[in-house]
Amino acid sequence: MKKILVINGPNLNRLGLREPDVYGQRTLIDLETLVVDYGLGRSCEVTCKQSNHEGEIIDWIHESDAFSGIVLNPGAFTHYSYAIRDAIASVQVPVIEVHISNVHARESFRHHSVTAPVSSGQIVGLGFGGYKLAIDALLAKGEDGWNESNN
Ligand code: DQA
Repeated sequence: MKKILVINGPNLNRLGLREPDVYGQRTLIDLETLVVDYGLGRSCEVTCKQSNHEGEIIDWIHESDAFSGIVLNPGAFTHYSYAIRDAIASVQVPVIEVHISNVHARESFRHHSVTAPVSSGQIVGLGFGGYKLAIDALLAKGEDGWNESNN
């Protein structure tokens, strides 16, 4: 069975409470239940982690060898964490960056991602559904032109 790691970064433990007009009413538990069930339906074991701490996220990326891919929502770290960027670049496991909201339709500081250039792909603005698409993408690695050479 393939294994996928889903990492949610800072403030995503506040889903459901935090800016519901932007992020919706559903909670982190709802999101994690959704992605675990979605993975099981595709014969894939999904492990979910969330942290508000940069170093913890970096450690999880370093320790991701057992996984065939990572779905990463770095939260605000997306926009300035060169340390998370370097952690992604240091591992072979493919990373798909996901944002619940359409960051490009929001404040200008959210338009730039320092982690996207070292990620295999990016999905923005599709709500919790973006995590499902990211899982599908990781399970399809090797098909349709996505292979080792383009990470
Ligand atoms: C976010 C977008 C980020 O700009 C923000 O800091 C978050 C959540 C999203 O999922 O839309 O914390 O990553």
